[in-house]
Amino acid sequence: MGVVEILGAAIWFILPAYVANATPVVFGGGRPIDGGRKFSDGRSVFGPGKTIRGFLVGLIAGSVFGVIQGLATGNCTLGAVGFLLSLGALVGDLFGSFVKRRLNVPRGGAAPVLDQLGFAIFAIILASPLTFPGWAVTATVLIITIPIHLATNLGGYLLKLKDRPY
Ligand code: CTP
Ligand code: MG
Repeated sequence: MGVVEILGAAIWFILPAYVANATPVVFGGGRPIDGGRKFSDGRSVFGPGKTIRGFLVGLIAGSVFGVIQGLATGNCTLGAVGFLLSLGALVGDLFGSFVKRRLNVPRGGAAPVLDQLGFAIFAIILASPLTFPGWAVTATVLIITIPIHLATNLGGYLLKLKDRPY
Protein backbone atom coordinates (compact mmCIF):
# COMPACT_ATOMS: atom_id res chain seq x y z
CA MET A 1 0.00 0.00 0.00
CA GLY A 2 1.20 3.49 -0.84
CA VAL A 3 0.88 6.47 1.48
CA VAL A 4 -2.40 7.61 -0.07
CA GLU A 5 -3.94 4.13 0.23
CA ILE A 6 -2.88 3.84 3.88
CA LEU A 7 -4.28 7.30 4.65
CA GLY A 8 -7.56 6.43 2.93
CA ALA A 9 -7.80 3.07 4.70
CA ALA A 10 -7.10 4.71 8.08
CA ILE A 11 -9.82 7.35 7.67
CA TRP A 12 -12.35 4.84 6.29
CA PHE A 13 -11.65 2.41 9.13
CA ILE A 14 -11.93 4.86 12.04
CA LEU A 15 -14.83 7.00 10.72
CA PRO A 16 -17.53 5.28 12.86
CA ALA A 17 -15.50 6.14 15.99
CA TYR A 18 -15.26 9.77 14.84
CA VAL A 19 -19.04 9.87 14.30
CA ALA A 20 -19.64 8.33 17.75
CA ASN A 21 -17.26 10.83 19.34
CA ALA A 22 -18.65 13.93 17.62
CA THR A 23 -22.44 13.44 17.74
CA PRO A 24 -22.78 13.80 21.56
CA VAL A 25 -21.37 17.33 21.27
CA VAL A 26 -24.43 18.26 19.19
CA PHE A 27 -27.12 15.93 20.56
CA GLY A 28 -25.86 15.09 24.07
CA GLY A 29 -26.88 16.63 27.36
CA GLY A 30 -29.28 15.81 30.17
CA ARG A 31 -28.72 13.29 32.90
CA PRO A 32 -25.06 12.45 33.52
CA ILE A 33 -24.02 8.77 33.35
CA ASP A 34 -22.60 8.93 36.88
CA GLY A 35 -25.88 10.42 38.14
CA GLY A 36 -23.87 13.17 39.82
CA ARG A 37 -22.23 10.63 42.13
CA LYS A 38 -18.78 11.14 43.61
CA PHE A 39 -15.86 8.73 43.57
CA SER A 40 -14.02 7.78 46.78
CA ASP A 41 -11.72 10.80 46.32
CA GLY A 42 -14.75 13.09 46.63
CA ARG A 43 -14.69 14.17 42.97
CA SER A 44 -17.15 13.23 40.20
CA VAL A 45 -16.82 9.75 38.73
CA PHE A 46 -17.05 11.06 35.13
CA GLY A 47 -18.53 14.54 35.52
CA PRO A 48 -21.51 16.30 33.92
CA GLY A 49 -19.98 16.25 30.40
CA LYS A 50 -20.69 12.51 30.02
CA THR A 51 -24.43 12.03 29.59
CA ILE A 52 -26.67 9.03 28.95
CA ARG A 53 -28.20 10.68 25.90
CA GLY A 54 -24.79 11.56 24.50
CA PHE A 55 -23.62 7.97 24.95
CA LEU A 56 -26.70 6.46 23.28
CA VAL A 57 -26.80 9.01 20.45
CA GLY A 58 -23.10 8.42 19.75
CA LEU A 59 -23.50 4.64 19.84
CA ILE A 60 -26.47 4.70 17.47
CA ALA A 61 -24.98 7.26 15.06
CA GLY A 62 -21.61 5.49 14.83
CA SER A 63 -23.28 2.10 14.38
CA VAL A 64 -25.62 3.40 11.67
CA PHE A 65 -22.59 4.86 9.93
CA GLY A 66 -20.94 1.43 10.06
CA VAL A 67 -24.05 -0.17 8.55
CA ILE A 68 -23.94 2.43 5.75
CA GLN A 69 -20.27 1.53 5.15
CA GLY A 70 -21.34 -2.12 4.99
CA LEU A 71 -24.12 -1.41 2.49
CA ALA A 72 -21.81 0.77 0.40
CA THR A 73 -19.15 -1.94 0.13
CA GLY A 74 -21.21 -5.12 0.36
CA ASN A 75 -19.14 -6.11 3.41
CA CYS A 76 -21.81 -6.67 6.06
CA THR A 77 -19.35 -7.12 8.94
CA LEU A 78 -18.64 -3.37 8.73
CA GLY A 79 -21.95 -2.83 10.56
CA ALA A 80 -20.76 -4.90 13.52
CA VAL A 81 -17.29 -3.30 13.31
CA GLY A 82 -18.96 0.13 13.39
CA PHE A 83 -20.87 -0.84 16.52
CA LEU A 84 -17.68 -2.01 18.28
CA LEU A 85 -15.69 1.04 17.15
CA SER A 86 -18.47 3.31 18.45
CA LEU A 87 -18.80 1.46 21.76
CA GLY A 88 -15.01 1.62 22.15
CA ALA A 89 -14.93 5.33 21.32
CA LEU A 90 -17.58 6.13 23.94
CA VAL A 91 -16.10 3.87 26.62
CA GLY A 92 -12.66 5.35 25.87
CA ASP A 93 -14.11 8.84 26.22
CA LEU A 94 -15.61 7.85 29.59
CA PHE A 95 -12.28 6.37 30.65
CA GLY A 96 -10.59 9.66 29.72
CA SER A 97 -13.01 11.64 31.84
CA PHE A 98 -12.56 9.20 34.73
CA VAL A 99 -8.78 9.69 34.59
CA LYS A 100 -9.16 13.49 34.27
CA ARG A 101 -11.37 13.66 37.37
CA ARG A 102 -8.84 11.57 39.32
CA LEU A 103 -6.12 14.04 38.24
CA ASN A 104 -8.40 16.90 39.38
CA VAL A 105 -8.86 18.24 35.83
CA PRO A 106 -12.31 19.91 35.79
CA ARG A 107 -15.04 19.07 33.25
CA GLY A 108 -13.95 20.58 29.95
CA GLY A 109 -10.36 21.02 31.11
CA ALA A 110 -7.67 19.88 28.68
CA ALA A 111 -5.79 16.58 28.97
CA PRO A 112 -3.43 16.58 25.99
CA VAL A 113 -3.15 13.24 24.14
CA LEU A 114 -5.78 11.57 26.38
CA ASP A 115 -8.49 13.87 24.97
CA GLN A 116 -7.37 13.31 21.37
CA LEU A 117 -6.38 9.64 21.39
CA GLY A 118 -8.12 7.82 24.26
CA PHE A 119 -11.32 7.25 22.31
CA ALA A 120 -9.48 6.03 19.19
CA ILE A 121 -7.28 3.57 21.09
CA PHE A 122 -10.29 2.06 22.87
CA ALA A 123 -12.19 1.90 19.56
CA ILE A 124 -9.38 -0.05 17.86
CA ILE A 125 -9.06 -2.43 20.82
CA LEU A 126 -12.80 -3.19 21.01
CA ALA A 127 -13.02 -3.77 17.26
CA SER A 128 -9.91 -5.98 17.21
CA PRO A 129 -11.72 -9.31 17.80
CA LEU A 130 -13.61 -8.68 14.54
CA THR A 131 -11.04 -6.79 12.51
CA PHE A 132 -7.52 -5.46 12.80
CA PRO A 133 -6.44 -3.12 9.99
CA GLY A 134 -2.72 -3.82 10.38
CA TRP A 135 -0.02 -1.85 12.17
CA ALA A 136 0.62 0.68 9.40
CA VAL A 137 -3.06 1.69 9.26
CA THR A 138 -3.33 1.60 13.07
CA ALA A 139 -0.31 3.88 13.49
CA THR A 140 -1.68 6.18 10.79
CA VAL A 141 -5.05 6.36 12.60
CA LEU A 142 -3.30 7.44 15.79
CA ILE A 143 -1.15 10.04 14.01
CA ILE A 144 -3.96 11.65 12.00
CA THR A 145 -6.51 11.56 14.84
CA ILE A 146 -4.61 14.15 16.92
CA PRO A 147 -4.80 17.00 14.34
CA ILE A 148 -8.27 15.92 13.12
CA HIS A 149 -9.63 15.96 16.69
CA LEU A 150 -8.06 19.35 17.38
CA ALA A 151 -9.39 20.77 14.09
CA THR A 152 -12.95 19.44 14.53
CA ASN A 153 -13.08 20.74 18.11
CA LEU A 154 -11.91 24.16 16.93
CA GLY A 155 -14.60 23.99 14.24
CA GLY A 156 -17.23 23.10 16.86
CA TYR A 157 -16.10 26.07 18.93
CA LEU A 158 -16.29 28.46 15.97
CA LEU A 159 -19.78 27.11 15.19
CA LYS A 160 -20.66 27.74 18.87
CA LEU A 161 -21.42 24.04 19.46
CA LYS A 162 -18.70 23.88 22.15
CA ASP A 163 -17.57 26.51 24.60
CA ARG A 164 -13.90 25.55 24.39
CA PRO A 165 -11.71 25.38 21.25
CA TYR A 166 -10.12 21.98 22.14
N1 CTP B 1 -21.23 14.70 25.63
C1 CTP B 1 -22.35 14.06 26.16
N2 CTP B 1 -22.27 12.74 26.51
C2 CTP B 1 -21.14 12.02 26.30
C3 CTP B 1 -20.01 12.65 25.74
C4 CTP B 1 -20.08 14.01 25.42
O1 CTP B 1 -23.39 14.68 26.35
N3 CTP B 1 -21.13 10.71 26.63
C5 CTP B 1 -21.34 16.14 25.27
C6 CTP B 1 -21.28 17.04 26.51
O2 CTP B 1 -22.13 18.15 26.28
C7 CTP B 1 -19.82 17.47 26.51
C8 CTP B 1 -19.52 17.61 25.03
O3 CTP B 1 -20.26 16.54 24.42
O4 CTP B 1 -19.61 18.66 27.21
C9 CTP B 1 -18.05 17.53 24.68
O5 CTP B 1 -17.52 16.26 25.02
P1 CTP B 1 -16.11 16.13 25.73
O6 CTP B 1 -15.16 17.15 25.21
O7 CTP B 1 -15.74 14.70 25.66
O8 CTP B 1 -16.51 16.45 27.26
P2 CTP B 1 -16.04 17.63 28.23
O9 CTP B 1 -17.21 18.53 28.48
O10 CTP B 1 -14.78 18.23 27.75
O11 CTP B 1 -15.80 16.86 29.60
P3 CTP B 1 -14.49 16.06 30.10
O12 CTP B 1 -13.59 17.05 30.75
O13 CTP B 1 -15.05 15.06 31.05
O14 CTP B 1 -13.87 15.41 28.88
MG1 MG C 1 -13.54 18.19 26.15
